[in-house]
Amino acid sequence: MTVRTALRGDLLDFTGDPGWQVDAGAAVRFRPDHWLLIDEAGRCAGAQPGDRPPDAWLGQNGRKVDRRGHLITPGLIDTHVHAPQIDVIASFGTELLEWLNTYTFPAERKFADPEEARRGSRLFLDALLACGTTSALVFPTVHKVSADALFEAAADRNMRVLAGKVLMNRHAPEGLLDDVDQAERDCVELIERWHGRGRAAYAVTPRFAATSTPEQLAMAGRLCAAHPGVYLQTHVAENRAEVRWMAELFPEARSYLDIYVRHGLVNRRAVFAHGIWLDDTDRAVLREAGAAIAFCPSSNMFIGSGLFDWGQAEAQGVGVCLGSDVGGGTALSLLRTLADGYKVLALQGQKLTAWKALHAATLGAAEQLQLTHEIGTFQPGTLADLVVWDWAQGPVAQRRHEVARDLHEQVFAWMTLGDERYVVSTWVAGRERYCRPGVAPTLDRP
Ligand code: GUN
Ligand code: ZN
Repeated sequence: MTVRTALRGDLLDFTGDPGWQVDAGAAVRFRPDHWLLIDEAGRCAGAQPGDRPPDAWLGQNGRKVDRRGHLITPGLIDTHVHAPQIDVIASFGTELLEWLNTYTFPAERKFADPEEARRGSRLFLDALLACGTTSALVFPTVHKVSADALFEAAADRNMRVLAGKVLMNRHAPEGLLDDVDQAERDCVELIERWHGRGRAAYAVTPRFAATSTPEQLAMAGRLCAAHPGVYLQTHVAENRAEVRWMAELFPEARSYLDIYVRHGLVNRRAVFAHGIWLDDTDRAVLREAGAAIAFCPSSNMFIGSGLFDWGQAEAQGVGVCLGSDVGGGTALSLLRTLADGYKVLALQGQKLTAWKALHAATLGAAEQLQLTHEIGTFQPGTLADLVVWDWAQGPVAQRRHEVARDLHEQVFAWMTLGDERYVVSTWVAGRERYCRPGVAPTLDRP
């Protein structure tokens, strides 16, 4: 239990989808120099102008935290990232399939060791917090202990983590393979232990269609059907050689996505990473199911996968959220990821506004995950997961910030020039869980 807190700064969140216009109207809620009121349960309770003292609301024990001149946003939501891949971030010279075999599979084997899985999970979640990410949909490894370790580390930090043991029973090296029956038992046990406990949720996690037999994919579909509240995460249509391989492995399927359809894996709680090489029929299927694509621009560029066409996804009504996809991606920072997203769209003649980008990493993701009652905004009643940011750092960004002519210019420059170094502090459910070295931490008691 924390005390009542009033946190002062420039509050920015969304009340709806801002669309693709720079002038997004009421969907963008900017409240410069306001107090954000956070109650004893760590939930947002409202906001009031900075010149209206919150003392009466705070009562005797409440505390004021003054971050005037700083931007405050809801905690960011990463909808596609791999906890064990810190060890392979920035690996040279390969595309997806070679990258998996050369770097990623060997690294993931280490998480068979519970101690290593715990160490890696703590490092990973602390790194997310240091980037301003408070919620994430995460792949651990095939090892059951890796899922337990991740959920335990998330519970220690009270973070909203959605995850599940990776399913893979073929086309991977010894030490990274499960089998259908044991995997099913492990998943059921993990669902019973973690799903809905604190802020944890279970996500059925077949790695991708190539590393599961049809029998295992069918088992994953049964898990989704038997446990309607669980999520589903996997990869789809990321890389052209991968797409060709899927056609060989599943000749009966119309497309790569159709493999998942046939096994009951495309649903409202499903998030498919990448989706670069989908066709119109696939997108219609996703829209119909209410499933989303996690756009992972830094990964898509770094391992040479291709340019995701967000405009086309939007035109066909498919939900899009953001993923860092570390270790294919080169930064856990979703700010950097958004800046990369802008460039990927620019190469296709599309213009990603700061509003559309930031919305996708906050309220948009919360809507897709059906968690708007808890995360994504400063709406009263939601948990106060939030980030205090510098608006700018260094003479170049500072100057750019000062000459910006309107709010969109300011936020766009912040998004484009900023990264984890801009994070002053990160709060989870009303408690400061990360504070930049050199900044005086906010203590829990006044
Ligand atoms: N496809 C299957 N596994 C992976 C992975 O770990 N990273 C990415 N980017 N794509 C994948
Ligand atoms: Zn991935």
